[in-house]
This record gives sequence, C-alpha cells and structure tokens, in this order.
Amino acid sequence: MKKTEKFYITTPIYFPSGSWHIGTCYTTVMCDCLARFKRMQGYDVFYLTGTDEHGQKIETNAKNAGVSPKEYVDEKVAKLRELWKLLDISYDKFIRTTDEEHVKAVQNIFTKLYERGDIYLSEYEGHYCVPCESFWTEAQLKDGKCPDCGRDVKLMKEESYFFRLSKYGDRILKLYEERPEFLEPKSRQNEMINNFLKPGLNDLCVSRTSLKWGIPVPFNPKHVIYVWMDALTNYITALGYGSDDQSLFDRFWPADIHMMGKEIVRFHSVIWPAFLMALDIPIPKKVYGHGWMTFFGDKISKSKGNTVDPVTLSARYGVDAVRYYLLREIPFGQDGNYTNQIFLSRINTDLANDLGNLVSRTTAMIGQYNGGVLPKSSGIDPRDEELIDKAERLLERVTEFTDKLLVPDALNEIIKLAQSCNKYIDINAPWILNKNNDKQRLNAVLYNLAETIRIAAVTLAPFLPDTAKKILEAFSVEAGLNSFESVKKFGGLKGGETVAKIPPLFPRIDIAKELQYFEDEAIKKEEVDAVNPENINNQSSQASANTDVDMISIEDFAKIRLRTARVTACEKVEKSDKLLKLTVQCGGETRTIVSGIAHKYAATEMVGKNVIIVANLKPAKLKGILSEGMILCAEDEAHNLSIAMPEDKEFPSGSTVR
Ligand code: MSP
Repeated sequence: MKKTEKFYITTPIYFPSGSWHIGTCYTTVMCDCLARFKRMQGYDVFYLTGTDEHGQKIETNAKNAGVSPKEYVDEKVAKLRELWKLLDISYDKFIRTTDEEHVKAVQNIFTKLYERGDIYLSEYEGHYCVPCESFWTEAQLKDGKCPDCGRDVKLMKEESYFFRLSKYGDRILKLYEERPEFLEPKSRQNEMINNFLKPGLNDLCVSRTSLKWGIPVPFNPKHVIYVWMDALTNYITALGYGSDDQSLFDRFWPADIHMMGKEIVRFHSVIWPAFLMALDIPIPKKVYGHGWMTFFGDKISKSKGNTVDPVTLSARYGVDAVRYYLLREIPFGQDGNYTNQIFLSRINTDLANDLGNLVSRTTAMIGQYNGGVLPKSSGIDPRDEELIDKAERLLERVTEFTDKLLVPDALNEIIKLAQSCNKYIDINAPWILNKNNDKQRLNAVLYNLAETIRIAAVTLAPFLPDTAKKILEAFSVEAGLNSFESVKKFGGLKGGETVAKIPPLFPRIDIAKELQYFEDEAIKKEEVDAVNPENINNQSSQASANTDVDMISIEDFAKIRLRTARVTACEKVEKSDKLLKLTVQCGGETRTIVSGIAHKYAATEMVGKNVIIVANLKPAKLKGILSEGMILCAEDEAHNLSIAMPEDKEFPSGSTVR
C-alpha cells in the first residue's frame, strides 16, 4: 500500500434528538473503529459524521419547546458532540446541515439539477411520515400506517418539485450487477431490487411548501428542499463540493464506505446514487447497511420507549466496555440483541477475565519476580514457538476480518490471544519457576508475555483506544513500538522497561447486584416493566388452565411469535429440581431461557437441539434469572414431557413457526 492512499468513511448524519441510546451509537463507534484501523495502516483517512437538522420534526419539537429551531438544534447538537467525545469518536469533520457552506452547496446542487431538467415542478398528493421524513403512496402503506415505523402518516397535497428518480432505475440495477460489492450485505441488495427497483421507481418529491425549517429553493423560496436531499448531499458538501475550495472533494471522493443502519439503506443505495448520476459524480465504493441493536427483538429506539443510556453505562463500566459491547455483539449484517445480562457477562468474560486479568497477572509477576523491570529476551525456545507464532500472525488475521467488516471476529482474535497467554501462564507456572530459582526460564516467560501483550494492545488500539493506551503505558512501550508495523515481528520490547502494576482494567462485575441496580434505576425501563416476578409453578398452572379456553382468531394466534432456535449451552439452575438455563441462538439473537424441563432432560443432551420458542413472551425472572422466552413442549397427564422440534435438523434458527 502506498502511504498516501486515501480512505473516506461516513456515518449517516444524526437527527438531533434529546436522548441517545446504546443502539444509536453503533454506526458511529463502528466507523470510528474502521477509521482508526485504516489510520494505523497508514491510510490518509477522512471520517465524517454530523447532524441532520432540518425538517418538520425539528420544527414541531422546537415549537413545543418554545424556542427557535436553530436554538433547539444548537443545544441538541452540543449534547451529541459531548457523547461522541465521551465515546472517543475520532471524526475528522462534524458537518451540520445548518452550516452556511452546506446550505449554499445544496442550493447550487438543486439549481443545477433543475437546469438539467432532472428536477421539475408539479403537485404532490400522498402520505407523509413526519418522524421518518418519508413520502409514501397509498399502496406502500401498511394498514394505513408508515411501513417503516408503523406510525400515523399525514395526507398531503401541495405544489412540489420532483426529482426524476424513475429515469435512473435501470442504471442503478446495472450498478448492482457490475459492482456487486457496492451494496452489502448481499441480502440488502435483494431487498432493494425486489421491493423498489424491479417494481419501478416513482419520481421523488424534493420540496415542501408546508414548512419553513429547511433550505429554501433558491429560485422559488416558498419551497424548502426535502430533508433527505439536503441530508444525503452532506457527504459531498462536507468535502467542499460546490464551493470555492474543492480540494478535499478531489482528494477523498468517492467515499470508500457509507455505513448506516438497514432502515435507511434505500436512501443510500437507490436515491443517493441517482442524485450522483444526475450530477455526473462518481458513485461511492460501498454502501454498508448494518443490523440493529435490538431489545428483545425490537429495534432500540426512543420512540418505542426503550432506551439504554450510553452515558450511564460508560460512567459505570467504562467507555471501552460500551465500545467493546457494540463492536463485539452485532454479527456481520445481522441484528444483535441487547440485554443488561449479556452486556455484563461480556465484560466479565472477555474483558475482566481474559484481557484484564492477563494484564494484572503479568504486571504483578514482573513486579514480584523482577522488581518491576522487564527482563531481556533470552532468544527463541521451542516451547514458546506456538505463542510467538500466534502473536506474530495476530495483525494479519485481525486485518483480514476487519477488511471484510467482520469486526466481532476481529476482536475475537485479540481475545483469543489473551486466552492463549493465560494458558501459557498456567502451563509455565512462573511461581514454580521462581520457587525453583529457574531465573532464565522465568525471565523468558515474563518477556514473552509482555511482548505478546504489547502486540495485542497495539492491535486492540482502533477498537478500544483507552484500554490499549493504558496497557502500553503500563509496559512503558515507546512511541515507535505502538504502530502496526511494529507488531508484525515478535521481539520489539528491549527489556529493561519499567513495568507498572496497574489497577484492574475491567473490575469483575457482580452481575446479580448490577442487574438489581438496573432495575432500581429503571435504566432499562421497558425491561423492568416487562419483568413479572413469576415462578415456574404459576406459569405451568396458567398453561393447564388454558387448555380449554375459548376459540381464538387467526389474528390472536398471529400475536404469538413462534421461532426456531438452536440450544448452544445449557446448565442446571442452582437449587432447583425443575429448571434448566438454556442459551439459544435465534437467528442473529442470543437469548437466555429458563425452562422447567430438568426432570425430563439432562443439560448435556439439550446442547445442539433445535427447539421452538415463544419469542415474544414477556420476560420473566425465574430463580433470579431473566428468561427471555419459552420452549414449547408437549406434556401428558403424568407430566411426561416431549420437546417440540422442527423435523429438519438443519432448518435455520430464527425461522417463523406457524
Ligand atoms: N438523519 C438520518 C440519516 C441521514 S444520512 C444522509 C437518520 N438519522 S438517525 O439519527 O435516525 O440514525 C443515525 C444512525 O443510527 C443510523 O445509521 C441508524 O441506523 C443508527 N441507529 C439508530 N438506532 C439504532 C439501533 N438500535 N441499532 C443500530 N443502529 C441504530 O437516520
């Protein structure tokens, strides 16, 4: 790679809303990690984020708050910037759609498209979803509501400008064909083709007269420009497109990655390329629609009332715990479920047990056995080859995953190396080497550990910058030894460095106590509300009482979400004869289910079984464990059980059962 190769990465620009939940931070943290990774690889990186400040929602919110729209957004934007600072987001530019340069550039773009005949004046009649700022035809509505968010839409009729989107459908289909890597994951491409492109695109309404809070159409100022047109163009106006200084645009365009949540892929992979085609501007290299952080199956969103506050989580467990969770928990392109239990367990297992413990043990041993000074390397010993080899290949493996945007897998490689180090400590037992006065071997073991930790910490830096910094400081790693280049070869540390014993990077969490805290603070209001402290007995008595209930309609049945799931782990619940605690994989989600089947099924035989679960049962606490669903079983009069299982053992988990 040439030193000067560029990398332009963007998040969507955020709607300035009052509060931010852990899900909203996902795109920004993910892009931050990729931007940092590329910087460390030597790329010239431009990482753009910002705020999407116009539109009816803001106008109404500001009115309700008794302030001007600009005052309203100024305050919210300041809060958002604080959040990004807290989460260590290393953006190169924060664009606001109220920035003067952006406003001017959008007006120029609108005029240019009008002059080219790609924008024309007509009349709009249809439905508008204010929260989504989306137009819908009658046919697109779902039960008369917005198909994206399910909320009410407004019938609108007004004079509007239209963009000739219909003209670009074939070119966009061709773009997908010629550049299959343009839109990922692949499933999103199929969605766009089948739902939008194949049925044919309608021209897009790109102006409004019924609101004031927007960028005026320069040659007809009673119209303001449609918020999505205003917003999408930020990716080029931020680089100075349409201004006197286009140097950034010339350097960084086309974008290497536009990253966003799946619900706005349509805007980025259909409407945005069409705008660019109309302007004769090259198309971005990649649009990536990631999955959602969900909350028992629902996308976490303020409007649905389920928020998990990243500021509270960061203050309590550290910013890097939050970053780690976000980067580790959502599998490639899929959704990842948030529960406090999963969040806390992740911190305990990966960060406290594996990584944190390794650093504590190693620094403590160097303190105890060598006075806090790193011994010198004593050359390669065949017993150490395996560990050294793993350390030397870490960056290569992490890069391979990161390049494919498989960030959870990349992180997993680093944690796996920490686990190998912990095993290496157990096998080599430095305390015995010390007792036996085997100074030479003891020094070699301590050196190998410190050097492997250095390699792991440098590789970890784009993901968890603060943790990496703390580790490197503890081992007095010099500036030259914190680069990617320096971790390709084992043996960077010279020996003689001061090694400081540092407090645990991630103190072990008492999960039960913390879950109690969450309940008390109502930090996850929705979860707490949903938790009924039921026990298994009244669940089963309820079940038997229901055997003779009245007939239900098909709509009633449709309310029950039955899904296939695969049991990945299972254990007996302490002090209970009846209960098993199962971990199941249901599509992209991992759930804990407590089930009263222990008298019939052993924990070991459950692992690997495919089962059917009630996926939208209100979570309930059983023996202090939060159960997120129920496993379907047949039960005879003698209370013998037989688990309902899909006949086809290979049937994908997460599938609907009807
Ligand atoms: N303003 C538009 C984007 C315009 S870009 C030209 C917008 N803003 S947003 O604030 O609603 O969303 C910002 C980002 O946060 C999006 O990528 C969105 O998908 C992401 N997320 C919001 N909630 C999320 C989850 N629960 N999980 C993962 N990402 C989520 O859309």
